[in-house]
Order: sequence, then structure tokens, then C-alpha cells
Amino acid sequence: MKRILVVDGGSLHAQNVARQVRSLGVYSEIVPCSAAVEAVQGPDLRGIILVGMVSARLEAVLGQTAVPVLSLDDRSPSEQVLESFLSKACGEIREWNMDNFLYQAVEKIRAQVGSGRAVCALSGGVDSAVAAVLVHRAIGDRLTCIYVDSGLMRAGESQQVVETFREGFGIPLVHVEAEERFLSKLAGVEDPEQKRRIIGIEFIRVFEEEAAKLGDVEFLVQGTLYPDALESGVGQGDLVKSHHNVGGLPEDLRFKLVEPLAVLFKDEVRILGEKLQIPQEILWRHPFPGPGLAIRVLGAVTKEKLDLLRQADAIVREELHRSGWYHKIWQAAVVLTNMRAVGVQRGRRTYDYVVGLRFVSSVDGMSADWVRVPYELLDTIGRRLLGEVEGIGRVVYDISPKPPATIEWE
Ligand code: XMP
Repeated sequence: MKRILVVDGGSLHAQNVARQVRSLGVYSEIVPCSAAVEAVQGPDLRGIILVGMVSARLEAVLGQTAVPVLSLDDRSPSEQVLESFLSKACGEIREWNMDNFLYQAVEKIRAQVGSGRAVCALSGGVDSAVAAVLVHRAIGDRLTCIYVDSGLMRAGESQQVVETFREGFGIPLVHVEAEERFLSKLAGVEDPEQKRRIIGIEFIRVFEEEAAKLGDVEFLVQGTLYPDALESGVGQGDLVKSHHNVGGLPEDLRFKLVEPLAVLFKDEVRILGEKLQIPQEILWRHPFPGPGLAIRVLGAVTKEKLDLLRQADAIVREELHRSGWYHKIWQAAVVLTNMRAVGVQRGRRTYDYVVGLRFVSSVDGMSADWVRVPYELLDTIGRRLLGEVEGIGRVVYDISPKPPATIEWE
């Protein structure tokens, strides 16, 4: 397939440029400047775009190359500039679209897995859902999905996963009810990072046990996306929290990895998901952290607190959908603080929990701002939470941008 190479000279724009190229129907790949000298050849290469500063050595190499080069001084180009470059580089026949990708991905998965069997951990999120349905299309019932129900999920979530994948798509699915196991390991643990570690370890244990019961399975399907593949490839990404491994699996598992989405951006995964007829609620679901509600119950986690939070969270989501704000918000978290406040209800003094609402806009979660939702919406949500959820005595709206505040409270 025709290919454009985007050379990343340490710019924040390289991924945007690569995405723009793809949206115009041409496949693009990003290479860091340090690896570009080796990458600037190959039969399918039709053009090179430099974003940011590049080395003198690379400039010398590019001086010799026959393919067109577009040099951007650390910025995203206008569509017109890019369009005329692509016409020069690749002509008018554009092959990159999700129909072609789907066809080729199925072939590739079949070639990789052969007559073997694969397993996939479903999280309820977009990426694992699309990866699982895609692999199922390629190898059918030789794929088994495992859904670990940690008891830290939102209301209705586990049921939705089971209905969608087992009943809707007919994918063999193991539903592991592991609530007690997770909650007993978490009992009394207050430190957020410790909670993350416990959940991460327990998840891997449960998954390994269940996978072992399946017998002879050689492959593990993961919904890794292009930005993550790039990040692990070039060893960047200094994370403030240990989160990106939580809910994931370690690399030393005995499986061979099948990562059919590793060249796709998030928006492409959603388009692919549409083609695979994955329900809208899953495709457009807000990001949800691997440790689930455990990091939204501040301090020690108990079943009672989780149930209270689930009830509150369901009301908030319902009102966001009803008002049309769900899709204008990148992520909406409801936080059960560990703090209680005094109130009066029906003439009696109460001492109930303070709940925090955190609605943010963001592109990738690295920075974020709070969303200016209408007062009327906050009013409706606040009244419902106070009126319908026993144990909530006060509701506050979080107006902290990230940075300095992280999106999650823990
Ligand atoms: P923060 O709180 O770091 O969150 O601003 C940025 C994004 O990451 C999500 N997040 C997590 N995701 N495991 C995950 O899989 C985690 O432990 C975790 N902690 C935060 C958060 O929901 C937001 O989308």
C-alpha cells in the first residue's frame, strides 16, 4: 500500500500530521528522526513529510531521494498544502480506508494464527471490543474472550459486555465473577497506587487461571493502538501515575501477541467498529480507568461505597445522555470523597458523603479543562443525587484544569 513517512523531529504535531494524511486516504507512518535514515526507502514509499527539526545527516540523505519531501516547520499544514503534496506524491488513487484495512487485517490475522487458538481480555472499552470482534471475524470460535468482573465496574456494565459479545456476536465468552476476590484484596487499603498495584496483579492472576483452563491457546489478542505502539517503540512517555499498565497484561506471558489495531488511531478504530457493527454505546463510551471505580472511591474501598457510587454514577450518565452533553464531554467522573458533611433533611441533622463531579474536555487525557455545562444541568444532577441516593449529603463541581490537577482524584 502507498505510504507516506512522517519524520518526527521532536514535534507535538507529528501525530496530527499523520492523521491528516490518513484522513485524505493515504496510509502514513511516523518515525522518530533518529530512525529515519533507515526508514526513508522501500518500494511503497511515496513521500516524506518532515515535522520539526531534522538532523543534517538526514537532510543529506533526503537530498538524494527520488520521492517528494514536504518540510513543515513544526506545525500542522493546511488541508490545501497537504492535498497538493499528496497529489504529487501518490496521485489521485487513495487506498487507505477502513474497508481495505478490514479486508487486509482479516487476512493477516488468519495468516498469523493459522489453525491455532486465541484469547482476548475484554474490558468493556472500545479497543478490546473492536480487536475481539475483528479477530472473531477472522478465526471464528477459535477465539475465546475473558471478561473479568472485578466488582469495580459501573452499573449495568458487565451485563452489557456479556449480552453484546456472547449473545450479540456469538463469541465464546468466559464471564469471571471475581468481585469477592478483588474486594478482599483491597480491604482497608487506602493508598491509590497500592490499590492500582493490587488490582493489576489480581487481574493478571485471574486472567491466567482462566486462560489456563482453556487448554491449548497460543495467542493473546490485545487492542493496542498506534500512539501506544509508538510510545513503547521509542521509549517515551514519562507517566505521573503508574496507570497505563493497570488492567493490562505483562509482556512475559506465555502467549504470542496478536495486535490487529496497532497501526490505527482512535478515530479509525471507531470507524472500523462501525463497520463491524459494534453498538454505539461501546464505540462512543467515555474512557474509563482500568482500576475502575476503586480509584473513584477515595480511600478504602467497600462494597457499600461502590454500590452508592454506582447508583450516583448511573444517574449522572443518564442526565448527561438525556441533555445531549454526554458526547460533548471527553470524560465524566463521579467521585465518592471520603469526606462527610452536615445537612438537614426532614427536620433532622444528617452527616453524609460529599460527592464530586468531574466533567472534562481533553484530546488525549494528558491535559484537560473542566466543561462549562449549563447550571440547569448541574442543578438537575445535584437534586437527583441528593434526593435519590441515600448517603449523599452534598454535591460539588470540580473546576480544576489539568495541569495541575489530574483528571482522576486518585
Ligand atoms: P489522570 O488522572 O492521570 O488521568 O489525569 C488521565 C487519564 O487516564 C485515566 N486513568 C487511568 N487509566 N488505569 C487506567 O487504565 C489507571 O490507573 C488510570 N488512572 C487514570 C483517567 O481516567 C484519564 O482518562
